[in-house]
Amino acid sequence: DWTMGAYKEEAIRIIREQVGDKQVICGLSGGVDSSVAAVLIHEAIGDQLTCVFVDHGLLRLNEADEVVTMFRDNYNIPLIHADESELFLGELDGVSDPETKRKIIGRLFIDVFQKYANQIEGAEFLAQGTLYPDVIESVSFSGGPSVTIKSHHNVGGLPEKMGLKLVEPLRELFKDEVRALGHELGLPDSFIGRHPFPGPGLAIRCPGEITREKLEILRKADAVYIDQIRKHGLYDDIWQAFVAILPVRTVGVMGDGRTYDFACALRAVNSVDGMTADYYPFSHEFLGETATRIINEVKGINRVTYDVTSKPPGTIEWE
Ligand code: XMP
Repeated sequence: DWTMGAYKEEAIRIIREQVGDKQVICGLSGGVDSSVAAVLIHEAIGDQLTCVFVDHGLLRLNEADEVVTMFRDNYNIPLIHADESELFLGELDGVSDPETKRKIIGRLFIDVFQKYANQIEGAEFLAQGTLYPDVIESVSFSGGPSVTIKSHHNVGGLPEKMGLKLVEPLRELFKDEVRALGHELGLPDSFIGRHPFPGPGLAIRCPGEITREKLEILRKADAVYIDQIRKHGLYDDIWQAFVAILPVRTVGVMGDGRTYDFACALRAVNSVDGMTADYYPFSHEFLGETATRIINEVKGINRVTYDVTSKPPGTIEWE
């Protein structure tokens, strides 16, 4: 009789056998996959695991603190918080082309990860939260059409470059199985059920030039939007939801005064695998209430729009 509990025990046995008494590094993104991999490996080999959390300054409100608290304090997993926001935001300064943004972030991510990983003495293994669909996709894509819509965050070449062997304990699992395993490992359900978040973070939800001011406004608006979705009990019914801040200021009126602030777009979609998606059919009441809350609570935004584009022809993220 196959259970996730039995799978966990077997996975732990295999990790111990593979790793022996050597050190393992794991890149933590705050996402479900790398988190489940880290907690599983920690159960198997304890403090032979060190996590490296690259904070590019493009995370959501309080996200970095939450990740550090959960892994360092709750799970006692040795964690390096690589706060490199100055570096990333500096290199992104003045850049507005989406692919250029992605490439800068991908390159810096690898540099930074390597810099911190090199500080971990005697590391021989690199742990990754690769899932079964990732394994399949990279195979089927290699023979497919060579049109790149978006260059994804890709650390594929990293292990060879660093001379590390891979530990990939989730390689046989689908997303829902990873969630079940996370549950088995005691990760909070609220964490396991989180919407996907892209590697380049808020950079690709801030079309045009990225500024600290825009990022701060975006973080606040996104927090209000997600709070609204949770309060209405819709979070688990939606595949992914977020705000994008638009590179345009518009005129508004508030009290007796004229405002000239940023517009933002709300996005929410349902999808099975992210390859296609339908926009989420919120009620007009929900949309109106959310727009009012964002404009009242977030200084710097005076206009809210709802993105009703499905994928295709749109993509889920704005860049
Ligand atoms: P798009 O925007 O291509 O996104 O329709 C499909 C799904 O992938 C996520 N996404 C990324 N995830 N690194 C990631 O880890 C990336 O560079 C990246 N770009 C998009 C996106 O959030 C959505 O879930």
